[in-house]
Amino acid sequence: MQQNIYDNPEFFSGYYELRKRSDNYNDLLEQPAMRGLLPCLAGKTVLDLGCGFGRNCADFLRRGAKRVVGVDISQKMLDVARRESYGEEIEYINMSMTDIHALNEKFDFVYSSLAFHYIEDFHKLICDIYALLNDGGQLLFSQEHPVVTATKNSEEGGYICNERGEPVSYKFSNYNESGLRVISWFVDGVEKYHRTMGEILTEIADAGFIIEAVCETSPDSEVVKKHPKFKQEYIKPNFLIVRARK
Ligand SMILES: C[S@@+](CC[C@H](N)C(=O)[O-])C[C@H]1O[C@@H](n2cnc3c(N)ncnc32)[C@H](O)[C@@H]1O
Repeated sequence: MQQNIYDNPEFFSGYYELRKRSDNYNDLLEQPAMRGLLPCLAGKTVLDLGCGFGRNCADFLRRGAKRVVGVDISQKMLDVARRESYGEEIEYINMSMTDIHALNEKFDFVYSSLAFHYIEDFHKLICDIYALLNDGGQLLFSQEHPVVTATKNSEEGGYICNERGEPVSYKFSNYNESGLRVISWFVDGVEKYHRTMGEILTEIADAGFIIEAVCETSPDSEVVKKHPKFKQEYIKPNFLIVRARK
């Protein structure tokens, strides 16, 4: 049974406020890297898994996509998407991406931003995506980096600071123990899944994909100048991004 934490009111309002901040990691670190790997979408059909507020769905339309399907397990996230990121060519479906094998349609491009680490069965997810793609179609996804998902007990992981309180290194543990992690983020009991870099890339290759790009995010120097806290992102990558072709 997939957890639907974004429909928890306390979690939702915390996440909503976070995304409004001008220094959020999505806008300053993950999205620029994702945009750099986007293929040309003119005339393409797109599936966005874990589409959330639907901002990327709207962006795909602006880039010329002819149809965009956004899937999300959270009704609250889709309520915002339907209110703020709509268009005749966008369809939002309230379903878990663990059920996408039931979609009766093929796509040229499958996209997912920061949602795959919520999925337990990565093997099934990747095989389902492969089956939903047209030949030559591409998958582009981001997720929390395995170095970030690894540690089971939060007290055993995190930045290590010098005497001035500046982060100088990062410690993590349990890297080679894949599986469920339960963390506190806005609320207690948030479930996500750790997989090693080797497992992630091998699952993608085993499904039949050609891996085209692997990116471990690093901040742009302009971002660091404006928001010095992003300097700590030079210590370890926060997000993993993969683009692959069927
Ligand atoms: C960090 S948010 C990212 C939202 C959006 N992709 C973006 O970049 O703004 C993760 C999203 O994944 C969704 N999600 C989590 N588990 C899911 C599942 N099993 N099926 C579909 N969506 C899921 C959440 O509801 C949430 O909207």
